Amino acid sequence: MLTLLLTLLATTALTHATPATHHKRSVTCLKVGATATATWTNSAGKTCTYTGVVGSNYGTNSAGGEYSCNGRCGAGCTGLGLGNVYTQDCWSHDICSYFNNASGGASDPNCGAAFAAARDDFLLGLVEGCSQTNPSDAAVKPTTQPVCS
Ligand SMILES: *[C@@H]1O[C@H](CO)[C@@H](O)[C@H](O)[C@H]1NC(C)=O
Repeated sequence: MLTLLLTLLATTALTHATPATHHKRSVTCLKVGATATATWTNSAGKTCTYTGVVGSNYGTNSAGGEYSCNGRCGAGCTGLGLGNVYTQDCWSHDICSYFNNASGGASDPNCGAAFAAARDDFLLGLVEGCSQTNPSDAAVKPTTQPVCS
């Protein structure tokens, strides 16, 4: 996990040095309990969206991943994170990962770009004021699917 953090720091520093060739870095806080729309681009190049509740607990997905505290930067409610930060990009990555059995961070074919977009949120969300108290909801599986077009 320390290695992961150092990798995040290093890649963020590099991104910072070459702003013209990368997406603008941005951190948008989300409120626990609010409704938010996750957006990502899947491996087929389609734009996918899914609307749900920030901080929701979907339990374990079919790949064995743990999806509590959705939208928190870090795995579940307790994975390594700088505070309990909830942001748009971490929400999009969590939701993408749940539905696509994602693994491997930035190398995942469906959710890798969303992972990369969430790196600055992970690092800067605390100073941006996005840290909140984690909910402690029981796991409830989502009843709808993302829409991709
Ligand atoms: C996720 O994994 C499960 C179990 O292996 C599989 O049934 C399902 O099709 C997978 N979903 C995706 C989107 O890959």
